[in-house]
Amino acid sequence: MPRIRLGVNIDHVATVRNARGEIYPSPLRAALLSEKYGADSITIHLREDRRHINEKDLKEIKSKLKIPLNLEIAATQEMLKIAKKQKPSFICIVPEKRKEITTEGGLNLNYKKHFLKKLIKILKKNGSRISLFIEPSLKDIRVAKEIQADCIEIHTGKICNAINKKKSYKNELNKIKKAVGLASHLGLEIHAGHGLTFESAKILSKIKDISEFNIGHFLVGESIFIGLKSAIKKFKKII
Ligand code: PXP
Repeated sequence: MPRIRLGVNIDHVATVRNARGEIYPSPLRAALLSEKYGADSITIHLREDRRHINEKDLKEIKSKLKIPLNLEIAATQEMLKIAKKQKPSFICIVPEKRKEITTEGGLNLNYKKHFLKKLIKILKKNGSRISLFIEPSLKDIRVAKEIQADCIEIHTGKICNAINKKKSYKNELNKIKKAVGLASHLGLEIHAGHGLTFESAKILSKIKDISEFNIGHFLVGESIFIGLKSAIKKFKKII
């Protein structure tokens, strides 16, 4: 068993499909093959604008997948209704801005704090484990605990960007280490994700107490060159 679980995010299989309004490549096929090749869970983000994954994908994947499904959603009434019906094993609540290219930062936990608390309570009661996608901020980790999230997912976008550009990443790494230390002390399960590559996953996998990485864009891109199976196996070996 690897120490860190690998969640394979297949959103960008749907991005390629939707770019031509076609029925291929199939996110369901990607999910089932990822499961076969050793993914520990599958992550999909159902966005308000449905730019990649849609409800049909969600239903098909949920009904056929044997490993846990991690559904990323914004904190809205629409998504609450869908998540309640589908009951995925994990739900990661993420911020969403209409014009962003991708999820640009962590949640602002103070804005909508009471609504988030209510949402977490309802979704936990419904059988899902709830994660909050946040920056490596000690303040946000305390709030995540206060509003009774099960897990946090640390946004690794900044450090991955610095690593890719060969810039210094020590400060960001220290911030993440401190955040992980506090979250672990508070008993939160710790996930991390966004922008991870083979190189950044290797650096971050040295931090004790991170139990899951969610990786999508780089992994799907790398699959073009080495195949999905090799990309998953390589990540599993690194982490
Ligand atoms: N984790 C969360 C919460 C995300 O929203 C995303 C996608 O934006 C990822 C992980 C995966 O990021 P990437 O596709 O850059 O690997």
